[in-house]
Amino acid sequence: MKMLVAKNHEEAGVLVAGMIAETVRLNPNACLGLATGGSMEPVYAALVRLFENGKIRFDSVTTVNLDEYAGLPPSHPQSYRQYMNSRLFDHVKIDIRNTCIPLGTEPPEKICRDFQKFLDAHPRDLQLLGVGANGHIGFNEPGTFFESQAHIVTLNEQTREDNSRFFASIDDVPKQAVTMGVGDIMKASAIVILIHGSGKLRAVRELFTHERVIPEVPCTVLKLHRNATIVLTEDLARMAELTPDRA
Ligand code: GLP
Repeated sequence: MKMLVAKNHEEAGVLVAGMIAETVRLNPNACLGLATGGSMEPVYAALVRLFENGKIRFDSVTTVNLDEYAGLPPSHPQSYRQYMNSRLFDHVKIDIRNTCIPLGTEPPEKICRDFQKFLDAHPRDLQLLGVGANGHIGFNEPGTFFESQAHIVTLNEQTREDNSRFFASIDDVPKQAVTMGVGDIMKASAIVILIHGSGKLRAVRELFTHERVIPEVPCTVLKLHRNATIVLTEDLARMAELTPDRA
């Protein structure tokens, strides 16, 4: 794993957006695995700026998101479809048919089957990832089998609480989600993880301070990937007592 330390959240976003732009420059037909959450917002803002300045084109790019809440229609303000449309897709020239986000309202078996079929047909050149406070990646909660494929997850209470800040109340946070499995996340040619916020300290320590790779902290599997880059903010690196040449 390579570690890069950015001054602040915004700079981390700029750095990650630059890596995405470079991936697309090298392969204009790239398939990008995308992520949601507060940590990713500066990435998409920076990507929109790069697009406006003619530094990236999405004409031939395909995207696929990590996950979606089960039961939320794509039109719901907190669905990940709305997140992606409002942060990125509405602001760049991209064929929306080339953007895959599982449909949370389909029957569970069909969601997983269609999602997995798409993933099998579209290897990712780059997978963008955030991390949950409990170390989850996508919505792969602690204990998920490392070879897992697309599946329905019952969200941990902590995850629902963490994500309740985006909803009117915790009761509105769906109890289930569909997620890309750990196995498919690991198949990406490159993985870029952006970690921001003091709530992620445990995950950072598990990544950099301990050697172990354990399903109880799903993000630790990234230690086994041949091309994973972790972008951290300076304050978080300091809290975890890391120095950039440590990774
Ligand atoms: C959700 C997403 C994850 C994301 C996590 C962190 O649970 N499913 O993919 O990594 O949120 O979100 P945030 O960046 O808001 O802390």
